[in-house]
Amino acid sequence: MLEKLGWKKSDNKNVSLENRMADVRKESVPNHIAIIMDGNGRWAKKRALPRAAGHREGMKNIRTITRCANKIGVGALTLYAFSTENWKRPALEVDLLMRLPEEFLNSFLPELMELNIKVQMIGEMDGLPDHTQRAVQNAINQTAVNTGMVLNFALNYGGRRELLLSVKEIAHQVQNGTLNLDDITEETISSRMMTATLPDPDLLIRTSGELRLSNFLLWQLAYSEFWFTDVHWPEFKEDDLLQAIESYQSRNRRYGGLKGE
Ligand code: IPE
Ligand code: IPE
Ligand code: MG
Repeated sequence: MLEKLGWKKSDNKNVSLENRMADVRKESVPNHIAIIMDGNGRWAKKRALPRAAGHREGMKNIRTITRCANKIGVGALTLYAFSTENWKRPALEVDLLMRLPEEFLNSFLPELMELNIKVQMIGEMDGLPDHTQRAVQNAINQTAVNTGMVLNFALNYGGRRELLLSVKEIAHQVQNGTLNLDDITEETISSRMMTATLPDPDLLIRTSGELRLSNFLLWQLAYSEFWFTDVHWPEFKEDDLLQAIESYQSRNRRYGGLKGE
């Protein structure tokens, strides 16, 4: 009956999504959200598809979640796309994963410009194949003028590797006399991290049921709120992001103190 009057179930869903987005915006929105996008393989397996299909679907979902985060007013979105440990995977899968940034960035770039989104990357660029480097660097360069949300890809990234490189850099500076041992503070370390231009994440999301960090942002997540869900990354939609943010907004971040008691 309602359908006959031009009402569609999907309209209702969109309206409620819009309302929820507006509600979420009214409260403190996490300024920096980090996501461990896990479960592409399991998503594909469930559908008797090759793992590659899961990765492709996962890539498409980055667009959905980026748009949603941007609309809500998130300042930075860091996405774990390839870890330093992911090189252990079969060469064919690694090859595909190294092609996806090109595919994604080339097709999404005009929209990123329209949305005023700035692309950044953490991880070791020079360890990536040339074609991946070119695509990522091109997106970084083209969006460098943008002043809106930061879309930060963790590619060939590992938290321990990042800490190791930062320790070496600091040690080198102490050794050559440009930094005093007594002047090393937590800020010194933060400023030597690959995330130096970003605040620490307020909210960490991991999809697909694993309850671990898998070497992600070990220094930066010290006081982040965590949200784990069984939903596989390719089916983690706006609804799920809103649920994570709503949970975040209901929490009392005490930082070891007694705030809000
Ligand atoms: C996440 O999905 C993507 C990457 C790690 C690159 P997975 O490929 O880890 O999917 P599962 O964990 O095997 O389901
Ligand atoms: C973490 O997922 C890395 C990314 C999402 C890029 P993995 O699937 O590699 O993590 P483990 O192997 O389950 O710890
Ligand atoms: Mg996985």
